[in-house]
Amino acid sequence: QSTYGELPIVVINHKTCKAAVTLQGAHLLFWQPATEQTPVVWLSDKTNFKQGVAIRGGIPVCWPWFGQLGNPSHGFARIVEWQLDSCKEDDNGVDLILSLTNNQQTEPYCRQPFTVSLNLHLGKTCEVTLSCFADFDITSALHTYFGIDNIDHVVVKGLGETYQERLAVENKPVTVGQLTFNQEVDRIYTDASKQLTITDGIRTIRLTNTNVSDVVTWNPWINKAKAMADFGDDEYKSMVCVEAGCITKPLKSSPNKKSTYGFLIEVI
Ligand code: BG6
Repeated sequence: QSTYGELPIVVINHKTCKAAVTLQGAHLLFWQPATEQTPVVWLSDKTNFKQGVAIRGGIPVCWPWFGQLGNPSHGFARIVEWQLDSCKEDDNGVDLILSLTNNQQTEPYCRQPFTVSLNLHLGKTCEVTLSCFADFDITSALHTYFGIDNIDHVVVKGLGETYQERLAVENKPVTVGQLTFNQEVDRIYTDASKQLTITDGIRTIRLTNTNVSDVVTWNPWINKAKAMADFGDDEYKSMVCVEAGCITKPLKSSPNKKSTYGFLIEVI
C-alpha cells in the first residue's frame, strides 16, 4: 500500500499487469496489461487525490444512484472510504474485494442499512463485479474511462439503437448504429448487446457485460473539457467513457437478496 495525495492506494505490479486502486470509492485508477504500451483503463493527469473529492478517470463506482438522481452526483460511494477485505495474488493476477457498509461517513447521505462490495480481478483481463444488499432500489454504473489513441478514430460497436439523450436537443449528435465521435456525446443506451467493442485503429477492447441493463457513453469534447478543472483541455482526445450500469432498470435488492452486475474487459 502507498498514498497518492491524501488517499491510501493499493499499487499492483504483477507480471500480467500494472494497476492501482484507491480505498476511497473502491476506485480502480488505471489498468495496463503487460502486453499494452498505454493504460486500457485511463486516468486524467489533472485528477485530485483528495478525501471526499471524486476522481477523474479509472472506474468510478456510481452507487446508489446514477447522475443527478440524487446529491452528490453519481452517488456517495465514490467519495467515501471503503474497506479492503481481501487481496490475493497468483500467476493469473491479483484479486481484490472491497466493501462498504453503512457507517458514520455514509449517514449524511443515506440512513438505511446497506452493504455494497466490489470484486476486482486484475491480470491479463480486468473483471469487475458489484454486489449489494439494501432495502431500497439502486441505480448504479461502473463509469469506466477507456484510454484510446485518438477520439477521431474511435468506433464503439454493440450499443444497439435505443438510447436516452442526455444533452440538450440542439446539441444532439446524429448517429445510428455504431457510435463515432465528432462532438460531445452523453447517452444512456438501453438495449445494448452483452458484448461491445471499442476500436481506435490501434487496438480493440472488448467488454462482456453481465446483468447490465444500460450502457452509458460519454465524451465531454472541447468546451466541457475546458470547463472541468480536473480534466486537461486536450484529454477528451485520449479517453472515452463506456459505462455498464443498471439505470433504467434499477437493481432490486433486499437485506436478504443480493443484486449483482459487472463486466469483463479484454484487449483482443
Ligand atoms: C457521465 C454522465 O456518466 O458522467 C455525464 O452521463 C457526466 O452527464 C459524466 O457529465 C461525468 O460526471 P462527473 O460527475 O464525474 O463529472
